[in-house]
Amino acid sequence: MPLSVRLKPTDSIVILTGAGISKESGIDTFRCADGIWARYDLDDVATPQGFRRNPSLVHQFYNDRRRGLFDPAVQPNAAHLALAELERSWRGKVLLVTQNIDDLHERAGSRTLLHMHGELLKAFCQHCRTVQPCTHDLSVDDHCLSCGRKGGMRPDIVWFGEMPYHMERIQTALADADLFLSIGTSGHVYPAAGFVAQAASAGAHTVELNLEPSEGVSYFDQAVHGPATEVVPAFVRELLALA
Ligand code: NAD
Ligand code: APR
Repeated sequence: MPLSVRLKPTDSIVILTGAGISKESGIDTFRCADGIWARYDLDDVATPQGFRRNPSLVHQFYNDRRRGLFDPAVQPNAAHLALAELERSWRGKVLLVTQNIDDLHERAGSRTLLHMHGELLKAFCQHCRTVQPCTHDLSVDDHCLSCGRKGGMRPDIVWFGEMPYHMERIQTALADADLFLSIGTSGHVYPAAGFVAQAASAGAHTVELNLEPSEGVSYFDQAVHGPATEVVPAFVRELLALA
């Protein structure tokens, strides 16, 4: 679908991605029919209350998902790679904000990247509040690498009801955006689901690239529906033809 607005090659682009961009890499989404919330009660594994109730269950949930990242079959797909190419070749600013906790954008080569819901490959100590790399299984018996204390380590993941990371930088970028792309997200979770309205009110052209219409599709100027590995590379090619 042709871009329905004239863009300058120096324009600023803000991109939001969700679980759908990683689906074709073999990582489950949350709210599709076969999604994670169809198999787990999110109150048990994605809330601070759930972690307090049963930390071992929460550690096992995230340990399983962290181990999945090391499966050789789980690789960045054409959509991740296209966004990394856009960042390298676009003359204007490109900020990639992801709700995803996997590392596929990094492995695809994206650099200006913010994980607003945290990262599976990081852990957080509730005693000394430091964030540290984590590539192994976490448990209640882990000691913090920084303060040495035991029993305080949790996945560095933003749970339901917690404040997302990097919100100030994201709001500043949205206020300055000329183009806002939303890729592979259902538009169910706030504040991410509200970014399109913020970008639009700042004058950005807004485009949804998703398998099917999201909950917020009516907020977008344009919508392109199809698998991310098809629609995202095609859209990036069109943008780079302007560069
Ligand atoms: P919420 O209170 O933000 O929203 C619950 C639901 O209400 C949303 O999923 C949305 O459908 C609706 N909603 C919220 N704000 C709305 C608005 N302004 N207009 C219309 N509908 C609105 O609870 P939440 O979704 O659990 O998120 C709370 C915090 O937890 C957010 O900061 C979010 O980033 C963080 N978080 C949420 C999830 C998640 O799956 N919901 C996961 C990780 C982090
Ligand atoms: N290509 C493009 N989009 C896809 C594909 C695909 N191959 N497969 C699925 N999708 C779309 C679905 O249509 C859906 O709209 O991706 C979206 C995934 O939505 P969710 O499962 O709700 O994932 P997401 O929007 O990232 O969830 C937001 O909710 O539970 C929290 O912390 C979690 O960050 C997550 C947040």
